[in-house]
Amino acid sequence: MSRICAWTSAWLAGTALAVGVLPGAALANDGYDLWLAPAPAGSAQADVRVVGDSPTLQLAAAELRRDLGAAPLPVVLARADAPELAALGLPTAGLGTEGYLVRAATVAGRPSLLVTGNSDAGVLYGAFAAIRAQKTGGDLTKIDLTSTPKVKLRVLNHWDNLDGSVERGYAGQSLWDWWTLPDFKDPRYTDYARANAALGINGTVLNNVNASPDSLSAAYIAKAAALADVLRPWGIKVYLSARFSAPIELGGLKTADPLDPQVQAWWKDKSDEIYRAIPDFGGFLVKANSEGQPGPRDYHRTHAEGANMLAAAVAPHGGVVMWRAFVYAETDPDDRAKQAYSEFKPLDGKFADNVLVQVKNGAIDFQPREPFHPLFGAMPKTPMMLELQITKEYLGFATHLAYLGPLFEEVLEADTRAKGKGSTVAKVVDGALEGHDLTGMAGVANIGRDRDWSGSTFNQANWYVFGRLAWDPTLSAEALAREWARQTFGDDPRVVDTAVSMMMESREAVVDYTGPFGLAHLMDTGHHYGPGPWVNDLARPEWNPTYYHKADRGGIGFDRTRTGSNAVAQYAPPVARMLADPRTTPETELLWFHHLPWDWKMKSGRTLWQEMVARYDRGVATVAQMQQQWDGVKDKVDAERWSKTASYLAIQHNEARWWRDASLAYWMSVNGLSLPEGSPAPEHDLAWYKAQRFPLAPGH
Ligand code: GCU
Repeated sequence: MSRICAWTSAWLAGTALAVGVLPGAALANDGYDLWLAPAPAGSAQADVRVVGDSPTLQLAAAELRRDLGAAPLPVVLARADAPELAALGLPTAGLGTEGYLVRAATVAGRPSLLVTGNSDAGVLYGAFAAIRAQKTGGDLTKIDLTSTPKVKLRVLNHWDNLDGSVERGYAGQSLWDWWTLPDFKDPRYTDYARANAALGINGTVLNNVNASPDSLSAAYIAKAAALADVLRPWGIKVYLSARFSAPIELGGLKTADPLDPQVQAWWKDKSDEIYRAIPDFGGFLVKANSEGQPGPRDYHRTHAEGANMLAAAVAPHGGVVMWRAFVYAETDPDDRAKQAYSEFKPLDGKFADNVLVQVKNGAIDFQPREPFHPLFGAMPKTPMMLELQITKEYLGFATHLAYLGPLFEEVLEADTRAKGKGSTVAKVVDGALEGHDLTGMAGVANIGRDRDWSGSTFNQANWYVFGRLAWDPTLSAEALAREWARQTFGDDPRVVDTAVSMMMESREAVVDYTGPFGLAHLMDTGHHYGPGPWVNDLARPEWNPTYYHKADRGGIGFDRTRTGSNAVAQYAPPVARMLADPRTTPETELLWFHHLPWDWKMKSGRTLWQEMVARYDRGVATVAQMQQQWDGVKDKVDAERWSKTASYLAIQHNEARWWRDASLAYWMSVNGLSLPEGSPAPEHDLAWYKAQRFPLAPGH
């Protein structure tokens, strides 16, 4: 149906007529289908037989019939305990509860494509894996695929408010129409569930971490329950962000002290109420004592005491608590990058068994590049849940093309050295390093009501890569880019190669034009859009970009070694030693850890200043190159997605230039240096850049 509307609107707009093309490559496509494009109209439907019955198995069958098209083999969908599979001796024991096996096998005397798993959800994931295999060029007649998720909780975090706005959302209003729930269940909820199940995402936190107490009121529990009913057959559990002071605001209590018996009873009753409405409710996500949110510290209690109180309330129902470590206080004069570690590390071993501590990939806040968070590997007794940001708060919102696969991969592959070489963040997160069963990965969603869900076609890839990496954090970002591109654009190698090449360059380009060599937090105030490295008048010191770059005539960068904040000491000794010396610190993170003179000699032999300018220039040039690459596939991509992407790349190019020019104008005002020969002067003077205002920018 999406195609019909889109085709009509493109027709009305005259696009197809104007370019004189026939339907085909140029058929309008508004991106609604994501990676779930149905088999071409008119193609044969796969012959699918379901053994046993359940809503989930029926959904799996429907997906195969819709998307697989003319399959080379009839498909059999069955749980591994189905009697007719017993004789096949399948290696299903190791698949766990959610893993799958997809194999070309003889079932009941007939050559078949067998899709099985130990649970209905496992079969569903297998069905999607079969579709993915076929769409990415796999040969189903020879397929023998097993896969088990390495991470248990694979969860989207929606920063969606009850009024329909989305904090840091750039894809329109919230998908959840809270006002019409629970009576109206928008069909989009089902499409959302399908898209997630195809990736293996098995949980969703419905509301913003800056939570309204109302989300725990009876009316909103009923609304959440309606969503849970839609999501359940797709293997997806619902979670809620909980406001720590809800016992006061909703319950009329005088305190939210976690050690107060009345408070504990309130949360227990509230949890019981939620579980009556949502029997498989996943649990709570909590942002406490962070950026003005209430929390246990208000009562001189620890984060563990706060988390454990909630954990006790959901434990009898099998729920969990995801307790965020994103804390920093204006009253703490210490380096912001150190505060979460200082607060949480001493609590290792003090959290209840059903608590995960949810840690952002880096110690500040989802910057285009950050070193891995020092808490990874530092709390061996506690399940550490990785929080990534899929929405691009600091990487150009919806308009800039920035594929986050390389960013996610970089943090997952980072070696904490906590237990010797190879102690990667991935192994901390998937529990392998310390033997945790309770494991999780969260992604702050980039999903809204826009027809293409994520604000642009390429942003869909960020949702995709998050989901696939949450299933298996060892997958490669490049392979996943290719997998996504084939399912999104079809299998024309020129389009796929072009898309992958653009994607793989794109995140580094953003790093280059927003702040190379470990510079971070240079954006303008509030909206976080555009450059503001000069900002130094905000109430809290660590809200100011000048706090992070510390540029002066003598040099630039944050000294986090012993002569400075000594944040390096929070890493395991081999990492700390490496980072203590600018000559052994990776150049990509140089100014995160060191304050260096502008004429510091870089590995290239050029000065830091020369290299910085070269990076800003490279960032802009990479975007220009992406524009050219995209132009080269104009005749191969449908007009609608092609044009929107082309327009967005043009926006990105202008804004990359803006970031570069504004940043360089500012750095020059500080260091008194001039630009190396051949590097163009900023278009405007510094005052012009400082005067730009964006009160209506989305997402804040
Ligand atoms: C960032 C973001 C906020 C968000 C916060 C969080 O600071 O700008 O909007 O609330 O992260 O993760 O809690």
